[in-house]
Amino acid sequence: MYMAALYHKPVLLTESVNGLVWNPQGVYVDMTFGGGGHARAILDKLQGGRLFAFDQDEAAAANAEGLELTFIQANFRYLKKYLKLYKVTQVDGILADLGVSSHQFDMPDRGFSTRFQADLDMRMDQSAKQTAQQIVNEYHEEQLQRMLSRYGEVKNARTLARAIVSSRINQPIRTVEDLKKVLAKFAPKGREAKYYAQVFQALRIEVNDEMEALAEMLEQAVDLLVPGGRLVVISYHSLEDRLVKNMMTKGNLAGEIQQDFFGNKLNVLKMITRKPVVPEAEELAENNRARSAKLRIAEKLNVPVRR
Ligand SMILES: C[S@@+](CC[C@H](N)C(=O)[O-])C[C@H]1O[C@@H](n2cnc3c(N)ncnc32)[C@H](O)[C@@H]1O
Repeated sequence: MYMAALYHKPVLLTESVNGLVWNPQGVYVDMTFGGGGHARAILDKLQGGRLFAFDQDEAAAANAEGLELTFIQANFRYLKKYLKLYKVTQVDGILADLGVSSHQFDMPDRGFSTRFQADLDMRMDQSAKQTAQQIVNEYHEEQLQRMLSRYGEVKNARTLARAIVSSRINQPIRTVEDLKKVLAKFAPKGREAKYYAQVFQALRIEVNDEMEALAEMLEQAVDLLVPGGRLVVISYHSLEDRLVKNMMTKGNLAGEIQQDFFGNKLNVLKMITRKPVVPEAEELAENNRARSAKLRIAEKLNVPVRR
């Protein structure tokens, strides 16, 4: 086993890479390199093709050493800008395996997990300015409430936001433990772990501006694909999946049906996976992190589709 496999076990590997690589001489982009599991499988399929790999986490860069690819340590929201530096304006396929890697989640000092005593951090890009600690201690009550209900679907978001604000008056909330102490009073009995996970998910999405970055990347991805090109996305929660599904089925992030002058429905993408592909029982048994994964694949059309 190569070391990067310990960093992160790739999810839906065969299904996603088979859906992505249709032209072995083509140009491909892995938006979320991580441990490089998907990237290696893409490289195995290329014959004269080229692979670009993005990851905003400097810890991922070491996994790219020795691989025949161009690693770009940057947020994928700058996809077009970086590819332009390499004079690439069209690509054959784009893969995004969203969310955090096991490495990020399992390193106690990154502050992503409720399991460890650590400072509240949660930055995927460790050079970014805003940490989870700043958000918890500096956001207004209304901002906290919006974040908790929108990104964590926390039911008592208003009560919790108020409790966070009054707790931090006495003492700043610096660590995972500090935050869990505040949460403990509001978590439904017997379902504490799920409640903590919802709050931590909300914070993580906010710290990394994940929904905006995804939206910006998806729009650029559609522009960059050649006709026949593939967009392959693995998402891990319903907010991500909604954006991906809207883009693939309707051609826009809002999921609005767009029509031409004659009332024909327009979309530059055609969905390849009618329903999202989810991991088989065997994969789930081996990899608990795969449990919420949903894979969707779309193909770029020559002309907007008329239905
Ligand atoms: C689920 S892991 C990908 C694992 C990878 N497919 C593998 O096989 O090892 C997600 C990775 O994407 C990176 N990432 C998430 N959002 C990003 C963004 N907006 N820009 C660049 N990298 C991002 C994370 O830092 C993390 O390393």
